[in-house]
Amino acid sequence: MIVDRQGRRFRNLRISLTAACNYACTYCVPDGKRLVAAQDELSADAMVRGVAYLIEAAGIERLRITGGEPLVSPKLEPFLREVSQLGLQDISLTSNGQLLSRKLPLLVESGMRRLNISLDTLDPDAFKRIARGGDLDSVLQGLEEAKGAGLKVKINMVPLRGQNHDQVLPLLDYCLERGFELRFIELMRMGHLARDGGGFQQQFYGMDELLATIAERYEFVQADAPLDATALRYEIPGHGFFGVIANESVPFCRTCSRLRLSSTGWLHGCLSSSNRHFVGDLLDKPRHQALPALQRLLVRALGDKQDLAFSGGVTVMKIIGG
Ligand code: 5AD
Repeated sequence: MIVDRQGRRFRNLRISLTAACNYACTYCVPDGKRLVAAQDELSADAMVRGVAYLIEAAGIERLRITGGEPLVSPKLEPFLREVSQLGLQDISLTSNGQLLSRKLPLLVESGMRRLNISLDTLDPDAFKRIARGGDLDSVLQGLEEAKGAGLKVKINMVPLRGQNHDQVLPLLDYCLERGFELRFIELMRMGHLARDGGGFQQQFYGMDELLATIAERYEFVQADAPLDATALRYEIPGHGFFGVIANESVPFCRTCSRLRLSSTGWLHGCLSSSNRHFVGDLLDKPRHQALPALQRLLVRALGDKQDLAFSGGVTVMKIIGG
């Protein structure tokens, strides 16, 4: 097992199935252009081998499928079919929910029990302004169906000053009514937001303000969360839970256990580092050749982790999906 000085190791793998996305969210894509799949994306087979090798080489226990937007990828079905046979403790998926209704049977069939769906607003106009694609009703419809199918749903919201910060309470009420756990993600300085003049400061809406807003309506207490969780969890007694992923206000790098594999075969050990390590070629090699080489790269990827706090990064969520 590869462990660093702080006792961190890779436990959770996030794999970006494709860089393509049917949205072009303002905080992700600066120019509003829809993202398409990269020419050199890995096949579903190579990705499954990648996961299998990383289970062995790094001790991966849990997998999250991201993007881009994973539900737009034709690789989803073959990937799920194979990867669900690898004995992972948990497989989940992060999606913008636009195609949830259509893909739900496939997800349920693969044995998936949990979903994280991004939803930044319940206002159709603000939705169009932020996502620059898709439509709100399709997402809401998919969410009702996921609930009906018994899936555990978490909702991701990135509060942005002036764009959707008025949605904190409406979204919280919406989630509490349905038993969804809402997770507020503080805006991260990634990609264009990491640059001077990228608009980070103007848009950032932090945890203190967020909790003060929630306190106007609800009483809440801090709740338990796993040691390597990114979210601080709160319980609103009698109503449910919500979380805050406070990258800026309460950094969680010390306990980070995440490893990311891009759709084009690059390992990223840290969102705040521009280092990445190409493994695409290794995935075509037999196990006895691939594993030692992979292990050497994993040592370097673990060394890329920040000690304390996320300090911005050139890597963009559109490539690596959070
Ligand atoms: N800061 C915070 N969250 C972001 N996401 C995408 N880009 C950023 C950013 N710069 C969110 C998406 C999705 C989750 C995986 O990450 O909205 O819900």
